[in-house]
Amino acid sequence: MATANSKRGIDVLYDPALNKSTAFSEAEKQALGIIGLVPDVTETEDQQLQRVNLQLAQKPTDLERYIYLINLLDHNETLFYRTVMSDPARFLPIVYDPTIGEACLKFGHIYRQPRGMYLSITRRGEVKNVLKNWPQKDVRFICVTDAGRILGLGDLGANGMGIPIGKLQLYTACAGVPPQYLLPMYLDAGTNNEQYRNDPLYLGMRKTRPSTDELYSFVDEFVQAVQALYPKCCIHFEDWTGVDAVHLLKRYRDKYCVYNDDVQGTAGITLAGMINATKLKGTNLKDEKYLFLGAGSAAIGLADLLCSALVAQGMTLKEAQSRVYMFDINGLLEDTRTDLVDFQKPYSHKHAPTRDFASAIESIKPTTIIGVSTVGGSFTQKVIEAMSRINERPVILALSNPTEHAECTPEQAYTWSKGTAIYAAGVQFPPVHFGGHTFLPGQANNFYIFPAIGMAVFATQAARVPDELFIEAARAVADQVPPGLLKQGLLYPLQSNILETEVQTAARVAKLVFDLGLARVKQPTDIVAFIRQLVYKPEYREETAASTTA
Ligand code: NAI
Repeated sequence: MATANSKRGIDVLYDPALNKSTAFSEAEKQALGIIGLVPDVTETEDQQLQRVNLQLAQKPTDLERYIYLINLLDHNETLFYRTVMSDPARFLPIVYDPTIGEACLKFGHIYRQPRGMYLSITRRGEVKNVLKNWPQKDVRFICVTDAGRILGLGDLGANGMGIPIGKLQLYTACAGVPPQYLLPMYLDAGTNNEQYRNDPLYLGMRKTRPSTDELYSFVDEFVQAVQALYPKCCIHFEDWTGVDAVHLLKRYRDKYCVYNDDVQGTAGITLAGMINATKLKGTNLKDEKYLFLGAGSAAIGLADLLCSALVAQGMTLKEAQSRVYMFDINGLLEDTRTDLVDFQKPYSHKHAPTRDFASAIESIKPTTIIGVSTVGGSFTQKVIEAMSRINERPVILALSNPTEHAECTPEQAYTWSKGTAIYAAGVQFPPVHFGGHTFLPGQANNFYIFPAIGMAVFATQAARVPDELFIEAARAVADQVPPGLLKQGLLYPLQSNILETEVQTAARVAKLVFDLGLARVKQPTDIVAFIRQLVYKPEYREETAASTTA
């Protein structure tokens, strides 16, 4: 197939979207003028993959493997995606959680090549012109962070750029969104991380963060510029501080095609786990009572989405909110607290003040506890034992990441609950053998949700991304866990089959986009086939003489 590429010679080899390295055919080498510039062989993609695996095996750590793979992406995009998509269960933990956390902490030190865009608050007034420097004219997704809160690691400033880069790779690797439409973006408004400001290799502004008003006016200019330049673009907000995440989502969600993955994606994936937990228990979402540890963006997003799902099951919003309690760094959210922000108040109920999570469990009697606190080990033995006393099958969701931030490990949950816990974590843990059973802890990671939402939005050119899409995605993900694996405690589908899972999820979400009248394309008769034909395939295109002179 001819391409619109007009590059020749060495320029082809320096373009990661065109470079095939050792896989050019003789005819392509002739046409592109690269004879002698590459070894005189024509390898298949599988031979190249064999070499990648050989080189990866020689790397001593996952961080080294991450650096190697990012380098591969910088030189040969097709081979990078072929590698990651060849074995997602093996490669997702390297290109994303948990390795990405370490990669961000060291971002300024391991930096090799520019990727995505860096936009400083000092460019206010000229944001649109700066965005015009991006070479692609049809951008469909911008994943944007100010790195106010990266994973559970806090304010990482410019080091947080690893996250939008990694997240967008997952759109392609997990759901097949073609990579040329994706733009990672860091809005640099400074950092309050003194260690980075003093690091000679730090790659951002060495200033403390501005006032909220200044930050939001910068973000307003950015959002407006995106609307003007890329009218089909969806803005994915990622890893802002909890308050900014919730407030910025509210500011734009009814006007533009935007969503916040920490708020809505996390909510979607957790809801999927809760749906499957109720299947295991033989109950219904509305029969459960929920206590969160953490009341930030992830907690609020999940609680709001959960309440929407409960309202869909026939409850009033007030009744739904009365089933949800929260506990944060200052204790239980209750009605004598004076430090709560607007979006936390619906989850603050009449209760005596307490800073003891285990005793709050004894009095509230939740059926499910959800850890989104960033504090590793905070689901102690006392906490799990209290949950087990109250519940035949306590549901324990320890969602904070990276790994050492998980509120408890699966081994702890199964051991302390004597094998009765229904458990999932935000990171992948290996199976646990306890009491003659093998338990399969699922990974409640939003990479089951946001790439599928992305594919659905890409396919339908959705004008908005309402919560209903995340509820539908949650149901679709939950429905795809085989009953045998669910019985072993696995709340989420296997990662090895992630592309197919997400295509099916994207198709269900796309159907809803059409039903809600939010699509900007005509509805096809077969939505699964429609999605499938858009899926990116990590295969080289044929580069012909015609394409190079076009
Ligand atoms: P956030 O910073 O907005 O909120 C953290 C909350 O935890 C705050 O309410 C804070 O008061 C509370 N907290 C902190 N220390 C505490 C303590 N010692 N005891 C009780 N509460 C405490 O952060 P956000 O965005 O809500 O994320 C929280 C965690 O959830 C992070 O570790 C993040 O990595 C994880 N997360 C996991 C996802 C997944 O897919 N598994 C997706 C998004 C976030």
